[in-house]
Amino acid sequence: MGSQKTYKIAVIPGDGTGPEVIREGLKVLEALAKSEGLSFDFMHYDLGGERYKRTGEILPETALAELRRVDAIYLGAIGHPDVKPGILEKGLLLRLRVELDQYINLRPVKLYPNVPCPLKDKGPEDIDFVVVRENTEGLYTGAGGVLKRGTAEEVATQESINTRKGVERCIRFAFEFTRKRNKEKKLTLCGKTNVLTYAFDLWERTFYEVAKEYPDIKTDYAHVDATTMWMVKNPEWFDVIVTDNMFGDIITDLGAMIQGGMGIAAGGNINPQGVSMFEPIGGSAPKYTGQNVINPLAAICAAGMMLETLGEEEAAKRLEGAVVKLLTSGKLKSLDAGKMGMTTSEVGDWIAQNV
Ligand code: IPM
Ligand code: MN
Repeated sequence: MGSQKTYKIAVIPGDGTGPEVIREGLKVLEALAKSEGLSFDFMHYDLGGERYKRTGEILPETALAELRRVDAIYLGAIGHPDVKPGILEKGLLLRLRVELDQYINLRPVKLYPNVPCPLKDKGPEDIDFVVVRENTEGLYTGAGGVLKRGTAEEVATQESINTRKGVERCIRFAFEFTRKRNKEKKLTLCGKTNVLTYAFDLWERTFYEVAKEYPDIKTDYAHVDATTMWMVKNPEWFDVIVTDNMFGDIITDLGAMIQGGMGIAAGGNINPQGVSMFEPIGGSAPKYTGQNVINPLAAICAAGMMLETLGEEEAAKRLEGAVVKLLTSGKLKSLDAGKMGMTTSEVGDWIAQNV
């Protein structure tokens, strides 16, 4: 082998159950490293609620500078019960997305075989689509403000920022992704052109302009409210959905539920030219912390997305194959925390042994 590449991976286990699920993901990556002849250099960062409470630091400049130079970031969860909501989310997770210009949030919604689905009469052949969520703009920029806070005259505004550049690069990524995925070759723009007539006018015009360069891709449009309806009623209609930051946030939680829950839902914050960051999309689950009962499959699947993005498609396939094998084996009683009939570490061990 000799000249094999060593991937530098920054690991941010974060808060709550983050460290438990990341530990299992690393186990699986180590196992794949052995069998696939890959090599990883894992660098751990203790960023998150505990560090903030201890030192007041959320994302020190030195850490950020180092994160800019890794091959990928593997993140557990951010959010601590003792820290006011918003501080860690904005200071760490959202800041990393913006600083590293991870302008795509890629969230596959895929129902694996033998996974209980809350939708009646829907199976794995019906639920297999990907949401391409814009990840740096929209309602997430912090634009807006407050006047006369706490008074009867209080005014609060929160503005959705949509730039031609930001919208276009997201839409272009979605078209390229739809072509590469090569399933139905259908891309649906999810918006709200009937009410948000400035923001989604920009999205819609850009969408159909870019579409001209992709004659092989079928285009479709759905309002966000209708999108949630079709996701429940006819999820088989979707192949790839592209949408803004806020709508993407909301519809991917619904997506996670129809694919079997937070225990299995993974996502990637992608900078196609830079450093991407992979995470299970569920939160820090303080209630289950330290009990070895949280489902690590979402974190393991996030590691799979990381491998794929790094170009290690063979390793990614083996990882997914092992996940499917575990699910179809019937060994897992449920995908939900505390009901799996296996511990967090048993699930990780099983996958590591079967990749
Ligand atoms: C997500 C999360 C974050 C978001 C929160 C924690 C800031 O819900 O990754 O979907 O809103 O993007
Ligand atoms: Mn969310």
